[in-house]
Amino acid sequence: MFVANTEDWWRNAVIYQVYIRSFADHDGDGIGDVAGIRARLPYLERLGVDAIWVNPWYPSPMEDAGYDVADYRGVDPVFGTLAEADGLIADAHARGLRVILDIVPNHTSSAHPWFQAALAAAPHSADRDRYLFRDGRGPGGDRPPNNWISAFGGPAWTRVTDGQWYLHLFAPGQPDLNWANPAVRAEFESILRFWFDRGVDGFRIDVANRVAKDPALPDLTAGTDEAGHPYTDRDQVHDIYRGWRRVADEYQPPRVFTAEAWMDNQDRLALYLRPDELHTAFNFDFLTLPWKAADIRASVDGTRSALAAVGAPATWVLSNHDVVRHLSRFGRPQETLGHGPRYVYLNALADLPLDIDLGTRRSRAAALLLLALPGGAYVYQGEELGLWEVEDLPDEARQDPTWIQSGHRVWGRDGCRVPLPWSGDAPPFGFGPAGSYPWLPQPPAWKQLTAERQEHEPESMLSLYREAIRLRRELRGESLRWLGSPPGVLAFERGGGFGCAVNVEAAEPWPLPDGATVLLASGPLTGAKLPEDTAAWFSLPG
Ligand code: GLC
Repeated sequence: MFVANTEDWWRNAVIYQVYIRSFADHDGDGIGDVAGIRARLPYLERLGVDAIWVNPWYPSPMEDAGYDVADYRGVDPVFGTLAEADGLIADAHARGLRVILDIVPNHTSSAHPWFQAALAAAPHSADRDRYLFRDGRGPGGDRPPNNWISAFGGPAWTRVTDGQWYLHLFAPGQPDLNWANPAVRAEFESILRFWFDRGVDGFRIDVANRVAKDPALPDLTAGTDEAGHPYTDRDQVHDIYRGWRRVADEYQPPRVFTAEAWMDNQDRLALYLRPDELHTAFNFDFLTLPWKAADIRASVDGTRSALAAVGAPATWVLSNHDVVRHLSRFGRPQETLGHGPRYVYLNALADLPLDIDLGTRRSRAAALLLLALPGGAYVYQGEELGLWEVEDLPDEARQDPTWIQSGHRVWGRDGCRVPLPWSGDAPPFGFGPAGSYPWLPQPPAWKQLTAERQEHEPESMLSLYREAIRLRRELRGESLRWLGSPPGVLAFERGGGFGCAVNVEAAEPWPLPDGATVLLASGPLTGAKLPEDTAAWFSLPG
């Protein structure tokens, strides 16, 4: 099968996130690679996904696991070669899978030739103007130019030997680019073409909402909100993405973009998805939900109404490489959890007791919700195996810059990045060749969760995902109509008589609608009733 030439495939695609360093390690150095992905394409084809999104594979010092890019037109030797990347794209297409890469426009690595040239150049020179260098404040310019804080902790400024400071909203090894400089815009459009010419089907855009900065770089004050924020969601970003869309539309089929933009205001997020801008955005409002019916329903409705204004489809996502795996979020008491980004980080959750079985039941139900909602869905590698967050990594194994920059106070994201268990009874579980050591240690208990073990198990998480992805191919359109249900239960119809119900938190099992025929369920039903923490798909009589 070859990738079909349909222009709107992205409106309802299931996109599988391949976190390359933890997916499959072909050469046995402990780190996943391009050859590993190629070897596992049959697995992805069988899972039934439409596309893969691969996290950055470019040459990088790996200060932030590859989000510090030194060369946007290559592949880091630890992951493989450009020729292998070409091979992967061709192999994926031959199996009907599209390939989305990850582009990092907010910052480069400090090892990027542009930044090295900037360091070698004089203050206020053209080479420095591709980044955000400024003089410091106070006597001798000894204080940073403003009070901004890095997302990983500590000041967002680092001083160079001649006394100037440069801005890094992330790690010091990730200097922010100056997007007001036309050379930066031209370079990124050229990078897009480089990969589009190689057949890449689209890009996930890293921190898409932060690239434009207020040139005055003012202090953040207590009253700073998203409107008028000096570096988040500034109006100038839209013109940048209009330019990118023009590039994507030069190709046949047109290439597509997904924005990574953490924003509180869904109406502002929708502005990125106007017809001449980006195609979709990750739905982080949905990702940060507690397992509470009213919150879920409000998020679904809020998402759909905000996006209706611009005609963009919704996306649904539960996990990624930056947050605690949802099994370990849903496996904790939900009473004290609010709706929002705070509760997707381990430091906020670690003190709450974890019940893996409960988390697994809820994750199975959540998978049926994720895959029944109208729009696109993202699956983060390993959620289809029912992996949990690894919370007890030895401190010396941790590599996330958050852990380092917080002075070992904030654990960071390593626990959701542990290499996948493919087969066998002991680490490395087929992630790499026997005798190799994965870059993060895998829990021995994952021997229950290997892909091999789940392959022929009809009740496994893997079988549930496969069956749901297969069935959802029958769904058409983007309609959703809520069906009457008691508090704690969500039920909706998608048109064509397809229904989905989730008993999120009603102690009393819920009787499915009259005449409903169950197509798939996340767990046992009691008679024709849906117990708590269980979801079912059903068809309704016509
Ligand atoms: C995004 C990435 C994250 C990275 C950060 C800086 O949020 O998903 O992993 O650390 O950007 O590039």
